[in-house]
Amino acid sequence: MVIIGAGPAGLLLGQLLEREGIENIVLEHRSREYIEKRVRAGVIEYGIAELIDEAGAGERMRREGLQHHGVELRFDRTSHRIPLSELADGKPITVYGQQEVVKDLVDLRQGAGASLFFDSEVVAIEGLTTDSPSVQVEAVDGPVRISCDYVAGCDGSFGVSNKAIPKELLRRHERTYPFSWLGILTEAAPATEELIYCRHENGFALYSMRSPTLSRLYLGVRPEDTLDQWSDDRIWDELNTRLATDQTPEINQGPIIERGITAMRSIVVEPMRYGRLLLAGDAAHIVPPTGAKGMNLALADVRVLFGALVDQLKSGDGRALEAYSATCLERVWRAEEFSTYMTQMLHPSYQDEFENGIQMARLRQAANSKEASTVLARNYVDLNSL
Ligand code: FAD
Ligand code: DHB
Repeated sequence: MVIIGAGPAGLLLGQLLEREGIENIVLEHRSREYIEKRVRAGVIEYGIAELIDEAGAGERMRREGLQHHGVELRFDRTSHRIPLSELADGKPITVYGQQEVVKDLVDLRQGAGASLFFDSEVVAIEGLTTDSPSVQVEAVDGPVRISCDYVAGCDGSFGVSNKAIPKELLRRHERTYPFSWLGILTEAAPATEELIYCRHENGFALYSMRSPTLSRLYLGVRPEDTLDQWSDDRIWDELNTRLATDQTPEINQGPIIERGITAMRSIVVEPMRYGRLLLAGDAAHIVPPTGAKGMNLALADVRVLFGALVDQLKSGDGRALEAYSATCLERVWRAEEFSTYMTQMLHPSYQDEFENGIQMARLRQAANSKEASTVLARNYVDLNSL
């Protein structure tokens, strides 16, 4: 089995297959240093944390990850706590950086001596409708061709896998949003115990964290904005303005050690299977980050794919593999719906006052109606295992 991409999806699939004794190779375009430093998502759903445990990769996550039982919606300079665990069968979320999950999985793989090749770009995938497909790799020592029984496309939305599905069979559903997120990592103690999703008339803000000394914050910015337009002072001023309440006028500041701007998109690619190629994670779908679903959705695909491969390769039962795309897509669309709901509710429009009225009505309902906050809590905590 060839796995393209050493993001969370490819690495977790490799780890699960190793434990079942199913031979696999992971090929990664970038260096180890690069993938371990890439700061991205931070919230792990309840059922996905259990999946990481089941793969034998949860030890440090359980020790260093932060368990949260609530989340805050902030609007009109007022805090509204959603008691997640109380509304979602007692389940917490775990706040633990995506790059830490990646580091843990790389360490396990290297410790076990399993194949993982960095600086190895897959440039072509062939023979997908035959019994022995192959991948063409530009490796450090030159080009290599590797034959296998199945190819797992875990190479993100800009990889080669989704392009290997013939155009006439592929459907791509896409939506872009009129804002981006500017994210920073700062050496400042979190000013809050729980995450804060904030809507302010200047734009969206999110307060998150990584440890007792590291905070992760985001600002909704215009899609054309670049980092050189956002000095440290401007970032802190805007975070303070948007996040201020009458009780907490200032947030903790520290040196900014990482920053980036990410465009917001929704993409769904159908089908997620073509012959011997199986897509998982961002290769098949992108969600806007407001619901913290990207990594969780990727790892949930891997749970389904792993089960289907075990059935096929150990018992010759191909039914789950046949159904793989349809099984995943139902959950993928649920995650798209939740991410769209969170995104639309929290990012004010700079032109459309009608839209702003709708957003405020939705926020008040999410904060004040038990039914609405229960739906939000259940989706936030465990959408991918419901
Ligand atoms: P990836 O993590 O993208 O891994 C794919 C891997 O494949 C990469 O390592 C890539 O180098 C490799 N690759 C690509 N092409 C090839 C090739 N041809 N050959 C070999 N290897 C290849 N989600 C959230 O929930 N919250 C966030 O705050 C958040 N922030 C994000 C910020 C950015 C900049 C990005 C891009 C995404 C963010 N996401 C966020 C989404 C989340 O990080 C992804 O959903 C998650 O990384 C998906 O994991 P994956 O394994 O499917 O893909
Ligand atoms: C983080 C990222 C998200 O997209 C989100 O919704 C919540 C938290 C984070 O990086 O901590």
